[in-house]
Amino acid sequence: MVLKRMSDNSFIYDLRNKKGWIIGCFKEKNYYDSYLQLGKTSFVEPWSDPDVHYHSHAQEIYIVLNGEMWIPVGKDTILRVKEKGLLLVQPNVPHSVIGGKGKIQHIGIKVPHKEDKKINVRKNESAINEGCLKKYNQNSINSSKGFLADLNDKKNQNCWLLGLGTATYKTKELCLAFMSYTNENETKKNEHDNSLHYHSKSTEWYLNITGEQKLLVEKDQITVPEGCLLKIPPMKAHKILSYSYPFEGFTMRTPIFLMIK
Ligand SMILES: [Fe+2]
Ligand SMILES: [Fe+2]
Repeated sequence: MVLKRMSDNSFIYDLRNKKGWIIGCFKEKNYYDSYLQLGKTSFVEPWSDPDVHYHSHAQEIYIVLNGEMWIPVGKDTILRVKEKGLLLVQPNVPHSVIGGKGKIQHIGIKVPHKEDKKINVRKNESAINEGCLKKYNQNSINSSKGFLADLNDKKNQNCWLLGLGTATYKTKELCLAFMSYTNENETKKNEHDNSLHYHSKSTEWYLNITGEQKLLVEKDQITVPEGCLLKIPPMKAHKILSYSYPFEGFTMRTPIFLMIK
């Protein structure tokens, strides 16, 4: 499942046809990361969690790539996280999954997860049908509880959605951007500073959903295939060289510290 381990300790993980938690505080050191827990489902039927729960430390992020997930957050809200929807739930906010539509493929992230405890609040009554959803707020979440974004919306593409500074939703835990380019001109138009740089303490992650991207990491030219995840450890100089089109993917950085050029 580790597609390639580079000489500089970067990794490419093959996530195609993979399900369950993949990166996290696991014994296997190739998959270990103390901040980021990352997993996915792969075209499964909608499901219902038995437990309504909250997390003591971790923000939980659901990114729905296919299908739709129904996620209660607090008391009167059941969010419909539709295809290309991203939901962040803050720590201490009760949530669960109670159903959905279609074949679900989603990315799950918890950060920071090393100290995190899952606290069960109560049992879920039962899975609900689509008609019941109408009684609830389905589209918005109070910013103290989290963040819901439609990744189809251009304003949420090619910019920091989560993070500090100019990010749409401010958080100290994780920088996250959704990159979506249909051709090279679009890449050039949207390209931010892409000079060779490294992060003194942060790990950077590149997750390709559609298409591939080529990066320079130290002296290696690395091609990250579609459906794969690249991990760049701290202190490793890197820069993006090119994409194949159409391209869609996520760039993530955690923990957040200042960048050194
Ligand atoms: Fe959770
Ligand atoms: Fe970087």
